[in-house]
Formats: sequence, structure tokens, C-alpha cells
Amino acid sequence: MQRAAVVFFVCAIIAFLVPRASQAEEDLLVKSGCNKCHSIAAAGIEKINAGMKTPDLSSVGKFHDAAFFSSYLKKETAHAPHEGNESDKKHMIEVKATGADFEAIIKRLTELKGDKK
Ligand code: HEC
Repeated sequence: MQRAAVVFFVCAIIAFLVPRASQAEEDLLVKSGCNKCHSIAAAGIEKINAGMKTPDLSSVGKFHDAAFFSSYLKKETAHAPHEGNESDKKHMIEVKATGADFEAIIKRLTELKGDKK
């Protein structure tokens, strides 16, 4: 009886921890390769190219809306300067995702309103 209780608790702890541990890897922006160049500190995501001078995306949703993200990431519009990022250049790359995948990236960006920069 006691043993069953131990097994139950161990399983419950694993079930609780596993989704959290893999959260950063499963983030849509990681799947989309954005973390090659960008960290998202508020979501615990580090950039792969650590030496690259790129903005952290933690709070981009505070400064831009969906319409801006859509055209900026397709390199149609230059960056709209804001506090913490005065750039007026176009995005470095054209994001290849299309359709529902692209819409999901845009939605995710509008939700990034964390305070970490
Ligand atoms: C090859 C490197 C690279 C990749 C990959 C990349 N970016 Fe960028 N991104 C940049 C650079 C460099 C800047 C800053 C450009 C400037 O200063 O004008 C930038 C800027 C941005 C900004 C503006 C941030 C701000 O503070 O307003 C957003 C939003 C953004 N990227 C989103 C994305 C998303 C979403 C992805 C993945 C789908 C992505 N980036 C992939 C290099 C990259």
C-alpha cells in the first residue's frame, strides 16, 4: 500500500515537471528558428548566436501591433522605432512561414508583453 503511494507521488511529480522543462524547446518561436538570433528572456529562451547584437523579443507586443509584425517580417516595412530600439531598418531576413503558421507567429509576438529586455 505504502509502495503504491510512493509510485503515485513520483509519477505525479514527473507529470508536473516534464511539460515545464520542455516548454522553452516547444515554443513556437523556437520551432520557427527565431531563437537563432533572438532571445526571449521572459519565456526563458536564449539565442543560439550569442554574439549577435539583436533585440530580445520579451516585450515586442507592447510596442508593435499585428499589422506591423506581418509586414515587417516579410520585409515590406522598416522597423518602427520605439523605446529601447531606435532602428529604422528592415528585418534582417524575410520570415519564410506562410498561412496559419505565419499568423500563429504574429499572434505569439503580440502576446509578448513581458518586462525583461
Ligand atoms: C538571422 C537572424 C535573425 C533571425 C533568424 C530572426 N531575426 Fe528578428 N531581428 C534580427 C535583427 C538583426 C533585428 C534587429 C534589426 C534592426 O536593428 O533593424 C531583428 C529584429 C526583430 C524584431 C523587432 C524587435 C523590436 O524591438 O521591435 C522582431 C519583432 C523580430 N526581429 C522578430 C523575429 C521573429 C518572429 C523571428 C522568427 C520567425 C525572427 N525575428 C528571426 C535578426 C533575426
